[in-house]
Amino acid sequence: MNRRELIQTGTAAAALTVLKPLTAFGYAANSAVRHGLLGCGNRGSSVAESFSKNTAAQVVAIADLFPDNLAAGRARFDKINADLGRPAIDGKLLFHGSHAFEQLAASPEVDLIQISTPPFFHVEHLEAAVASGKHVYCEKPVGIDIHQAKHALEIAKRVKSTQSVDVGFQCRNAPPIAAVADRIKAGALGKIAVVAGIYYAPASTEKNRPGASPDEYRLRNWLWDRALSGDILVEQNIHIIDLCNWMLGAHPVKATATGGRNILTHFGDCWDNYQVDFTYPGDVHLSFSSTQFGVDGLFDAGLRLFGSKGSATVPYSGPVQITGKEVWTWHDSTATATGSGKFAANGAFSDNLAFADRDKERTFIDSITSGNCHNQIASGVETALSCMLGRMAGLTNREVTWDDLLMHGETYQLGFSMAQFG
Ligand SMILES: NC(=O)c1ccc[n+]([C@@H]2O[C@H](COP(=O)([O-])OP(=O)(O)OC[C@H]3O[C@@H](n4cnc5c(N)ncnc54)[C@H](O)[C@@H]3O)[C@@H](O)[C@H]2O)c1
Repeated sequence: MNRRELIQTGTAAAALTVLKPLTAFGYAANSAVRHGLLGCGNRGSSVAESFSKNTAAQVVAIADLFPDNLAAGRARFDKINADLGRPAIDGKLLFHGSHAFEQLAASPEVDLIQISTPPFFHVEHLEAAVASGKHVYCEKPVGIDIHQAKHALEIAKRVKSTQSVDVGFQCRNAPPIAAVADRIKAGALGKIAVVAGIYYAPASTEKNRPGASPDEYRLRNWLWDRALSGDILVEQNIHIIDLCNWMLGAHPVKATATGGRNILTHFGDCWDNYQVDFTYPGDVHLSFSSTQFGVDGLFDAGLRLFGSKGSATVPYSGPVQITGKEVWTWHDSTATATGSGKFAANGAFSDNLAFADRDKERTFIDSITSGNCHNQIASGVETALSCMLGRMAGLTNREVTWDDLLMHGETYQLGFSMAQFG
């Protein structure tokens, strides 16, 4: 078994054996990276569980706005820790309320903060986590408006060389996608002329608590709310636009878009479809189509890139391949490609993304234990801004350039005080 196979198929224990014996930052072989989870919801808990099972990270602290979500997180991680032979979370390291993020950041017992709160809060929480000197794993998007994105770029400058900060674009780490991206970047398609991208997702489901106030209801259903989520382009379709930016090595220079709220009637203001034409340098166009409604379970997401020497197909589910002069198909049996195409609201997809989270988390923890730290904030902001470009083009119904976007000063407000949540 080679090192790659060990990392892709081995247990957490096997993976730990490849850590350096002792780094300049004090992580001895097999010693835990003390992990604090901020936001014990669907994605946050799933990622933290995957960190626990696949890396040297150990959940020692959790924080959430709402006591019921904190309690559910505590039960889940006490069980996971028990199953892994680790102690339960210390009662002193359970935080709830609107200041929970600051209390977690101030905890000396924590080495790493995972930010898995709704997108509106990411930059505020990132600022506190970076200021604490801890390592940070921040979910996408890094900012929901231009003001937040610019603020995040300032925060990026404050990251110390001993801190690792990753952004949750795990699709880049999915083995089939990483392999096709390597070939595309090496020129397998020749001159890329045009790209097509899709993200067709089912409607998200309502989350409620009896007696919830309108503000609490809005927070719990943040996915339906543009200020809290950034809208479907910025919150969810961002994975495909990130892959396009990464494979083209650039961000779009302008966009035109249409879309609207043609089906959804429930609370909220997010659109249920977008059609965006992004122009990249060299007059390369990404034609992007997105829907997020429907009850038939339809899910399909991916990219197709067309070049002078061939084309590449990069779906979440189904064959990842290049046709043309440099024919290639992903065939490594360490990833499945069953084509089942099921949507996963917690981002833990099967098929081509089956190992995306695990490999993303291992790469991040390796950056911490080796001392070869990452700072992915600026690249995360670039992708978030790319999505905001499409959103602004759609909402204003006019062409928007990258320069227009940066000058716009767009700022979304919650319109209520978080202090009401303690
Ligand atoms: N990378 C991926 O594939 C992927 C997939 C799904 C979600 N996400 C991202 O993960 C994040 C969380 O999504 P989710 O599906 O887990 O949502 P969720 O609603 O299930 O969980 C969010 C949690 O954050 C808590 N919370 C809300 N506001 C808070 C605050 N101000 N301070 C502390 N806690 C707060 C909520 O109580 C809840 O427990 C979002 O940013 C989302 O965009 C990423």
